[in-house]
Amino acid sequence: MNIETKCLHAGYTPKNTEPRVVPIVQSTTYVYDSTDDIAAVFDDPTKSLIYSRFENPTVMAVEEKIAALEGGIGAMCTSSGQAASLLSLLNILQAGDSFISAATIYGGTINLFAYTMKKLGIECIFVDADASEDEIRAAFKPNTKAVFGETLANPALTVFDIEKFAKIAHENNVPLIIDNTFPTPILCRPFEFGADIIVHSTTKYMDGHAVQGGGVIIDSGNFDWTNGKFPEFTEPDESYHGTIYTKAYGKAAYIVKARMQLMRDFGCYPSAQSAFYLNLGLETLAVRMKQYCENAMTVAQFLESNDKVESVNYPGLPSSKYHALAEKYLPQGTSGVISFVIKGGRSTAVKFMDSLKLASNEVHVADIRTCVLHPASATHRQLTDEQLVAAGINGGLIRLSVGLENVNDILDDLKSAFAAI
Ligand SMILES: Cc1ncc(COP(=O)(O)O)c(C=O)c1O
Repeated sequence: MNIETKCLHAGYTPKNTEPRVVPIVQSTTYVYDSTDDIAAVFDDPTKSLIYSRFENPTVMAVEEKIAALEGGIGAMCTSSGQAASLLSLLNILQAGDSFISAATIYGGTINLFAYTMKKLGIECIFVDADASEDEIRAAFKPNTKAVFGETLANPALTVFDIEKFAKIAHENNVPLIIDNTFPTPILCRPFEFGADIIVHSTTKYMDGHAVQGGGVIIDSGNFDWTNGKFPEFTEPDESYHGTIYTKAYGKAAYIVKARMQLMRDFGCYPSAQSAFYLNLGLETLAVRMKQYCENAMTVAQFLESNDKVESVNYPGLPSSKYHALAEKYLPQGTSGVISFVIKGGRSTAVKFMDSLKLASNEVHVADIRTCVLHPASATHRQLTDEQLVAAGINGGLIRLSVGLENVNDILDDLKSAFAAI
């Protein structure tokens, strides 16, 4: 099945007289014929539904669709992208462990990794995504249990060399987790390049309409959790009547453990209604992604030829430092997100943005409508100057999320804002 068709049909196949659209199962609980039936589900939770804190049929239909789109063996939705990033790592790490992350990632994720996870006793070692293989190898410690990166970093738009990091992670017997939010599986499928786990903020292109926040974790099923480094997968889980995840669930050990241990305890599962909205976004994802890329390329070329612009960062442009990596990992386009540095620094950037009429000032990105953000005053406000430099943020940097309006209207809006500065 081609990806456009999967967007519409995967996850839910109605039978005779069933609803055409995935039904919203608005129920917190499920009924059993007998006490023995309930007991059997507790013995093997993958056999049926237990409780809506970690399972719901509407959400599970969407999980199946996203797993199919990414080419994974299973997925688990979360109530936000942040929750997906956190649980993807907590499923592997505990106090005393460390992990490696690219430094050019979303500011909120930097905050989570550098501060909140530190409070939990987990150390994040940030590395330059463009570092040499030997520099990356040098960041590993005996307690390093995972590597994390963003395919297309928000907002620096660096393209992450998935194969390079996967090779080094695997040499060290640890999994590579990829945040694939900006490309979505339409533009890049990280499992095909060696990633083991994928996370998304579905709040972005997957929902696409600025309607519903959410996240998802997808398991490739390819990582060998029995390699000796991950006793939580190979020894009995006392919190789940002694289950040994690799024995009981084989290739699905990671994603079953994430649900039965972490979702059970943290309870950040989306509602059926949220999953229904997400599914509507997914249905048109393939068509939308193509158009975002086309509009953004036209806008990026316009910005590059504008003498009020110091630099344009769009990996789809041949002038981009990341163009070669983009051609390898994102051959169909590099999403609708562009960042550019306006001449005149922070104050000119703010004046330009306040002069836009069609594009709105929003914290959001990857929306169906064009929007802009000044990262240094917003998403990355909490970072120190050194962290800002490491994350690739300049005072004059503007993040422009090109939407699906007619591209000539977007260009007209930009032209009048340039005229105002
Ligand atoms: C790449 C990326 N990952 C994760 C997140 C966090 O997602 P959420 O806002 O849905 O919690 C964001 C949010 O902007 C993001 O851009």
